[in-house]
Amino acid sequence: MDGKEQLRRYLEQRRETGERELILDGMTVDDVMRIVGARPGAGATSDPRPAARPDTPAAARAPSEPVSGDWRAVLAAASDRDVAIPRVAESKASDPPTRRPLDAPSVSHPTPAPDTANASGAPFVADDTPSDGGSATWPAGIVVGQAATELFGGPLAAYQTLDDLARAIATCTRCPLYGTATNPVPGEGSATAHLVCVGEAPGATEDATGRPFVGQAGKLLDKILAAIQLGRQDVFICNVLKHRPPGNRNPLPTEVAACSPYLVRQLELIRPRAILAFGTFAAQTLLQTPLTIGKLRRAVHRYYGVPLIVTYHPAALLRNPAWKRPTWEDVQYARRILDGTGL
Ligand code: URA
Ligand code: URA
Repeated sequence: MDGKEQLRRYLEQRRETGERELILDGMTVDDVMRIVGARPGAGATSDPRPAARPDTPAAARAPSEPVSGDWRAVLAAASDRDVAIPRVAESKASDPPTRRPLDAPSVSHPTPAPDTANASGAPFVADDTPSDGGSATWPAGIVVGQAATELFGGPLAAYQTLDDLARAIATCTRCPLYGTATNPVPGEGSATAHLVCVGEAPGATEDATGRPFVGQAGKLLDKILAAIQLGRQDVFICNVLKHRPPGNRNPLPTEVAACSPYLVRQLELIRPRAILAFGTFAAQTLLQTPLTIGKLRRAVHRYYGVPLIVTYHPAALLRNPAWKRPTWEDVQYARRILDGTGL
């Protein structure tokens, strides 16, 4: 892989974790992506989310002119400024997952490495050495709503069961996505689940089947749940958006606003003991914050009193296996909350 492709992948990882600022001579992530032709503006691709989902490998879509084997040289050559490139590799020490953005696993496997492990039935993280946070209690995080607040009474209060809600979602026209989607994907699992898992939006497989997290990311989610002794039937799995955005593009703010009342109502009806937010969109939507995953992890947030843990999206783990370990730690903490030892 040449330096340009390496840099493009790194930038995509940064963008997915919500990082907009790279501090590269004042340029943003998007600026740099345009320079290397990985973003519209340089005419390389019109897909606003090149590697957002594993079902469309980024490597297959981005043109990669052979440049130099060193992405630093690519940037230096593409910019007419003297770019402070070394700072890319010096990400904040407080954010371990992005400290080794170009580590061998994610760079050398255009197709996601963990898939092989999935197929062979290997566990999510074989090395289960307790982390430093094994017995420590995480600090309190963002508080959204009050525990004592009666949630019911929102626009969807008329729906008294998850099935009622699923029927409403199936005929929903609150945003245009129903027009391009094949099936609604309301979510599935136990109506009395202690844990609700929230993702971003249905992908191609989910759209085709009407079921959440059944593609590659879903297989990994199954393993993540198994790592804390839970099966799909034990939890409730859903997404912020209930219809697939075309081409897996990022959800638009208007779509999130239109669709999130369904998620809120699902959480009201289930009233779980813990919520696991997978990825930037779920975390930012529920916690009503622009903070990135790196800043939201390792804290016990509260969503109307319900403890909420933020972790990486399984699809992101497929491209960046270095995030598997922190994800494992996050879900172990969610397990502790369910067990009554994490609060
Ligand atoms: N990614 C998501 O966020 N949700 C799904 O259901 C599948 C992939
Ligand atoms: N992209 C996501 O959607 N979530 C993550 O956690 C990381 C990247």
